[in-house]
Amino acid sequence: MAKVKTRQLVRKTIQTENSEFNYQDFWVGREYEHAAEEMAIKRLLKGQTFKHAIDVGGGYGRLSKFLTKFADKVTLVEPSQQQLDIAKIYLKDVPQVERKMLQAADLKMPNSSVDLVLIVRVLHRLSDPKPEFGEIARVLTPGGTFILEFANDAHFLNRLRYGVRGKKVPRTTNAQQAPYSHHPKTIIRLLHDAGFDVETILSGSNLRSPRLKKVLGKNIMLGLERVLQPMLAPLYFGPSVWLRLRKK
Ligand SMILES: C[S@@+](CC[C@H](N)C(=O)[O-])C[C@H]1O[C@@H](n2cnc3c(N)ncnc32)[C@H](O)[C@@H]1O
Repeated sequence: MAKVKTRQLVRKTIQTENSEFNYQDFWVGREYEHAAEEMAIKRLLKGQTFKHAIDVGGGYGRLSKFLTKFADKVTLVEPSQQQLDIAKIYLKDVPQVERKMLQAADLKMPNSSVDLVLIVRVLHRLSDPKPEFGEIARVLTPGGTFILEFANDAHFLNRLRYGVRGKKVPRTTNAQQAPYSHHPKTIIRLLHDAGFDVETILSGSNLRSPRLKKVLGKNIMLGLERVLQPMLAPLYFGPSVWLRLRKK
């Protein structure tokens, strides 16, 4: 039964893969978003160091490189051959990063073999990440750290949109196909069920507005983001949510 589920997931990912799209191009002109994400990771890892980190769904290694500041060894786990080919070039001067073609739901690593897991911008590909959370709990050491970022379905503007119609943002995703955004309370419940405690929450990319970016510029935007990430976290304000989780 579990095998059938994993196979279905693999098929789903391959179907949603667009070989024409170069994810590296997506980041041109998004220096604020990239820096805001590194800021969140730095904040959540607070100068800790790790032996072995995995960047699950790490794409071409944009954040795997950054993870080498915190971990002796980093494994970039990625199901797309196209992304892994770009990673080979992007990471050519970063020998600490190993690249593996794998799915998040089937990491093919021993139990309790890594002490840090990073997942950023991947959950929009998964309608129900329960199998992936179970697999991450399996490979993490007890007490290990899991940093998760996901698109927030219950961000402030969406709550307003529902609120004016006298409704609440549904706890289950409405989307029929990817990209999926998720309700933070649903994700946190799934994480608890998989054996994780939430230690810290941050609100991410709070100023994701092309107009603001033009008016304020990157440095002012980042100064504001620094203050807003923890301040707006209790409101789940921004379009992305960051969690630092501890495996029980
Ligand atoms: C938007 S990219 C994010 C890449 C990277 N995490 C970053 O933030 O730069 C999403 C990545 O998730 C990968 N992905 C999709 N489904 C996956 C799955 N089931 N397991 C692991 N990775 C997956 C895709 O191949 C893609 O490279």
